[in-house]
Amino acid sequence: MTGTLNKIVFPTAGLGTRFLPATKASPKEMLTIVDKPLIQYGVEEALASGMDEIIMVTGRGKRAIEDHFDISAELEANLKAAGKDALYKEVSRVARMAEVVYVRQKQALGLGHAVACAEHWVGDEPFGVALADELIIAEIPAMQQLRQVHEQTGCSVIGLMQVPSHLVNRYGIVQAEQQANGLLQLKDMVEKPPIGEAPSDLAIIGRYIFTPRLFELLADTKPGKQGEIQLTDAVARLAQEEPVYGVLIDGKRFDAGNPLGFLMANAELGMLDPKIGADFATFLRRLL
Ligand code: UTP
Repeated sequence: MTGTLNKIVFPTAGLGTRFLPATKASPKEMLTIVDKPLIQYGVEEALASGMDEIIMVTGRGKRAIEDHFDISAELEANLKAAGKDALYKEVSRVARMAEVVYVRQKQALGLGHAVACAEHWVGDEPFGVALADELIIAEIPAMQQLRQVHEQTGCSVIGLMQVPSHLVNRYGIVQAEQQANGLLQLKDMVEKPPIGEAPSDLAIIGRYIFTPRLFELLADTKPGKQGEIQLTDAVARLAQEEPVYGVLIDGKRFDAGNPLGFLMANAELGMLDPKIGADFATFLRRLL
């Protein structure tokens, strides 16, 4: 499959039940790590990986995401008039950082269904998918790590992470085979397998590049686990038809879509923050 890779889909239409009541009226993707919402980390990662055509799949109650990437003329004028130049620059940078198209997923029928909602805007081209609540901090942006293998092979590529064997039932888990060329080819995958039945300890962590063939398979995927159209089911079928590769992501990953992962991400990035890191670390040390 040829074609330039500059489109990326962010599914953001989930219900965020693991983070209720915070996510009752505001999107999980707007939860803040230090001073930036998760979705902005995701978009910055995409841009740093050369994917600047962004398709956001949203649902009810997600307007804050659109507003975040929109121009706020009043706010910009106020900051400018008050001489708050750094803030003004940052706020206007966010509003202009990317061209974003919004597509509505009318019912939360699953991640696979959300990705399928973007088909019209992606067309017949390879495309990325990133889950913004999976925050990945890496020297080489995670999507760029996937892109390198996509450019080498022209195939679909999925980001992976090793997980403890007692946690496999929380993830999509792959069965992989090391190829002579050093790449990891995925043979099969299963969503949230029972402990003891997982094909490996390699988990899918919310970063993907797909060939457009995925859309045809998604259209033909029946609801699976939890009655949702599972992305993993369609990808497993894709892997039977054409090579799908896995990349062990080099970086730190936080599942910020649940309170514990969110607090861990804030603790780690908070301590690294140039403005507040030192004070925050002192506070934490005292607390412990
Ligand atoms: P999750 O299962 O992590 O998200 O889906 P969720 O359903 O919002 O959260 P919980 O499990 O209820 O707490 C992974 C990603 O897929 C999106 C979510 O927004 C998240 O980014 N998603 C999921 C959709 O866009 N639509 C869906 O129907 C389901």
